[in-house]
Amino acid sequence: PLETRVDSILKLMTLEEKIGQLNQYNGFWEITGPTPKEGQAAKKYADLKNGLVGSMLNVKGVKDVRALQKIAVEETRLGIPLIFGFDVIHGYKTISPIPLAEAASWDLVEIKKSAAVAAEEAASVGLNWTFAPMVDIARDARWGRVMEGAGEDPYLGSQIAIARVQGFQGDDLKAKNTILACAKHFAGYAFAESGRDYNTVDVGESTLQNIVFPPFKAALDAGVRTFMNSFNELNGIPATGNKYLQRQILKDDWKFDGFVVSDWGSINEMIAHGYAKDSKQAAEIAINAGSDMDMESSAYVEHLAELVKEGKVKESTIDDAARRILKVKFELGLFDNPYLYCDENYEKETVGKPAFQEAVLEMAKKSIVLLKNEKELLPLKKSGQKIVVIGALANDKTSPLGSWRIAADDNSAVSLLEGLKKYKNNSLSYVKGADVAVGRTQFVWETKINMTDKSGFAEAINAAKGADVVIMSLGEHGLQSGEGRSRTDLGLPGVQQELLEEVYKVNPNIVLVLNNGRPLAIPWADEHIPAIVEAWQLGTQSGNAIAQVLYGDYNPSGKLPMTFPRNVGQVPIYYNYKNTGRPVMNEPESVFWSHYIDEKNTPLYPFGYGLSYSKFEYSNLELSQKSFSDNGQMEVSVIVKNTGKYAGKEVVQFYIRDLFASVTRPVKELKGFEMIELQPNESKKVSFIINEKTIEFFTANSKWEAEAGDFKVFVGGSSAQTLEGDFQYLNN
Ligand code: IFM
Repeated sequence: PLETRVDSILKLMTLEEKIGQLNQYNGFWEITGPTPKEGQAAKKYADLKNGLVGSMLNVKGVKDVRALQKIAVEETRLGIPLIFGFDVIHGYKTISPIPLAEAASWDLVEIKKSAAVAAEEAASVGLNWTFAPMVDIARDARWGRVMEGAGEDPYLGSQIAIARVQGFQGDDLKAKNTILACAKHFAGYAFAESGRDYNTVDVGESTLQNIVFPPFKAALDAGVRTFMNSFNELNGIPATGNKYLQRQILKDDWKFDGFVVSDWGSINEMIAHGYAKDSKQAAEIAINAGSDMDMESSAYVEHLAELVKEGKVKESTIDDAARRILKVKFELGLFDNPYLYCDENYEKETVGKPAFQEAVLEMAKKSIVLLKNEKELLPLKKSGQKIVVIGALANDKTSPLGSWRIAADDNSAVSLLEGLKKYKNNSLSYVKGADVAVGRTQFVWETKINMTDKSGFAEAINAAKGADVVIMSLGEHGLQSGEGRSRTDLGLPGVQQELLEEVYKVNPNIVLVLNNGRPLAIPWADEHIPAIVEAWQLGTQSGNAIAQVLYGDYNPSGKLPMTFPRNVGQVPIYYNYKNTGRPVMNEPESVFWSHYIDEKNTPLYPFGYGLSYSKFEYSNLELSQKSFSDNGQMEVSVIVKNTGKYAGKEVVQFYIRDLFASVTRPVKELKGFEMIELQPNESKKVSFIINEKTIEFFTANSKWEAEAGDFKVFVGGSSAQTLEGDFQYLNN
């Protein structure tokens, strides 16, 4: 058995070699160049040769992976292979939509396929581990990393976490087309105060258990073999040094037997947090708290041996961490063949495969959300139209790749303009109008962009005058969201809002195509612009996907996985909020209700919202019985009818509300969904089961259980538009 093989290796290892397995370095030298002779790189090179490195990140390509693996296997005393990790977040070279966009598809089969494509391409270049999926539930659109997750809902987030883990890992970790997945960031990272990345997190147990943890648990149940901890402190203790998170919850309660990697440098960051006095103490805290692998702090390799000798860390703790890492290396098949993932021919025939392009195009089409469509502006007519396209993003072949694009080349995405050009029977012209302004980032190329230049306005306004339809492609550049890209404003950056308003004055027939990595606050556009399409950052096939949707060759079916606010001041805003003692029922009421004096409470576009070129009518909500008890169950059903003129897909959503409980419950909680396809005039009955599992939550007894009481059930096409009924659970 595997455990015996792991133990027999462990017995041969010195303490230093065991600690070496816990050490992960970033790729530190150009492998085609001379070997490092001095400084940090020379030290790392020596560590590698001495068997003091267990894993490397950010090394890609079979040639480089093979060269490093060769050192580990042939030059170290025990020849233990390395694991190679990388942030394959939404593709390697062939880029799929950003994860938030994929989540908008609510299509678990397609999402799983997308992860499988990324895994196959990444595995072919020698990688065996991705730092994905990010399963952080996010309620604050100011946080730039919302683009990496599945949005705000723990149920949808859990289903997507499962799909992604299964997609990356497949059924067999030893297969040449699968890689290890990593559920990150454990935990609470998305709850950073004021949406500023890496900021303090203070979250109570009920929210942790009911909202933050479920997607991690779902990933674990789906077999995820690694977790990454998190940069943030949680309730006063950095996640990296947090025993409650890593030992009590993850390893004791959930019995996780894979390994935990720290986030980049997060062990040493505990010094800046004010939780460790130096790197040595940080290493002691982190290992004792259950962080098994040190990503780029060098704290373990520098200090753990001494800490063991001083009795501050037990050798059995080191053994446990090393055992976990070795076990996963066995599971990957690396002990049987360290070069399993190093096949140059396979790499050549796999990277950028045409089948991958088809998969990411499918995923991209399904990720688009139609937010508004008046005057039947969409779908566009296929001939005889004069179409003018405005906006820098329409002609951008890099921005659609979004953040974390790994090996994708600049300019490798299909731009919107290129996608539209394929429809040849309309006249098509393009004017930039304005650049996409950018905020403070570290990217040199961004500083070249003028943030306030309106010199292109006149040309854009002129061009718009004679058009039948103006397509305005506005929003955020692909690198305006992602890690370290928090924003205080959720409007269209720079002068884009002004451009939109100026063009509208001369031609209101505007289709606004939004590209963004987070929910935006666009109340003016919602009030004035007849058609709005949420097209996120859709990856390599972006322009083709958007064009096919605009022309009706794909009928949009996406639904928002995250609430869009009216105003940044409403953030965090999410559909599964709790009632106050003074809920606003009909705005406006008196002053002393839970509200704002300058804005509504409701969002601009709610969670679960998204239109289609078809129209879906919901009727006949029926419950199979009024109540259920014990291990019983009941059913809720509705009839959905397509009353429009196009065939289309609809995501039917099922929510509940627990009216009173030992811990207050949200006004609505998603508990199921089903995607159906209907021809014009066709109807379907859609049913969902209600049982104890549906109503369970983390109660005042500190456990997951179902409490007796009164419930509401809602079914509809968004969290805000539902039919409703009542039922009871009669236990206890
Ligand atoms: O995986 C990432 C993590 O999400 C943020 N810090 C760096 C890691 C490795 O690149």
